[in-house]
Amino acid sequence: MQEIRKQLVCFLEKNVSTFIESWRKKVFISETYLHKEREFNNGLKMYDLVVLRLENSLSEEDVRVLAYKVSIERAEANTNIEDFVHNVNAGRSEIINWVLSSGLPIEKFPNIIEEINTVFDQFTYFAIQKYTEIKEEQLQEKNQFIDQTHKERLKILGQMSSSFVHEFRNPLTSLLGFTKLINNEYPSLKYIDIIEHELHQLNSRVTQFLHVSKKELVSGEKKSNSLQGLFEELISFIYPSIVDGNVSLTNNIEFDIRVFANKDELRQVFLNILLNSIDALQKVKHKRIIDINCKTLDGKAEIIISNNGPIIPKEVSDAIFEPFYTTKDLGTGIGLYVCRNIIEKYNGEISCISDDSLTSFFIKIPI
Ligand SMILES: Nc1ncnc2c1ncn2[C@@H]1O[C@H](COP(=O)(O)OP(=O)(O)OP(=O)(O)O)[C@@H](O)[C@H]1O
Ligand SMILES: [Mg+2]
Repeated sequence: MQEIRKQLVCFLEKNVSTFIESWRKKVFISETYLHKEREFNNGLKMYDLVVLRLENSLSEEDVRVLAYKVSIERAEANTNIEDFVHNVNAGRSEIINWVLSSGLPIEKFPNIIEEINTVFDQFTYFAIQKYTEIKEEQLQEKNQFIDQTHKERLKILGQMSSSFVHEFRNPLTSLLGFTKLINNEYPSLKYIDIIEHELHQLNSRVTQFLHVSKKELVSGEKKSNSLQGLFEELISFIYPSIVDGNVSLTNNIEFDIRVFANKDELRQVFLNILLNSIDALQKVKHKRIIDINCKTLDGKAEIIISNNGPIIPKEVSDAIFEPFYTTKDLGTGIGLYVCRNIIEKYNGEISCISDDSLTSFFIKIPI
């Protein structure tokens, strides 16, 4: 070993307590930190690493081991990383000042300072790397926990609403039945068609809740459905809202595409999207347009429902399909969630693309 190294090592070993004393004055340690002594001990270990390096017997592994140990302790104690970096740097300048004022001809051996810096750089690198890793793991665990509680709450909500919905459904079905009877007996009776329409609306609302609470309950009979026929029925069903909302709607489903599914569920999907579009268009001052298109692609029907309403910002384009996401005063935010559940049940896909001029919902469903 170079003579100067020997002298320097000797000097450092002799002055270790003075170094620690003076470093202690510069470090940031929170009053509430319970492991102050452990922190000073780590400082001492770091000092040892520098000495080892000057003796040419330090390995990268030695630095890594200490860095990982310190990071784990820091993360466990939940202290901030800024103080830690400050303290390491305080140690670094303390040692360098110390070495420079040793009276040894260090200026002739600039590599030595370089070497000390390398030990500290490596140490900081490994420590931050480990610390970030631990914090990310903790964050993931936390998110998992939040997800889990969210799911449990949804489950409870589902159970509550499903019993609530059943209470509603029975009287509603009998109201619908009797309205039909009245309609048959007194076909010229005023307002009865309005009452019937509103009851149907209420019925689909209630069914919507059933979808959220107990998906399997409502998997009714499946059959081959003509999309053209389905949309014609739907459009006449929502005709009052179309007129009321001053919307011009074009249905371009020409040739007969059929999908095998439960008709009520298909209705529910397209109804939700159409009603959302009518709602969104209320913000539009110029001509309000809804366009329905359909094409077939790789054994799937792709239905595209577009409107020229306000843009759905990119950052929420996934969130709109989550339950309870709504921007409406009286919305429940389950409409699109139900759509996605139904479509995915049939191995289909639903997505939304929106820009300043057009918002389009794409529904792919096996034919
Ligand atoms: N065509 C559209 N244009 C602009 N925003 C839309 C459109 N469709 C949906 N959204 C946005 O997505 C949100 C969620 O829609 P979703 O149908 O799930 O719930 P909702 O309409 O708010 O309430 P609900 O349908 O339960 O009454 C809406 O509140 C709205 O912000
Ligand atoms: Mg809706």
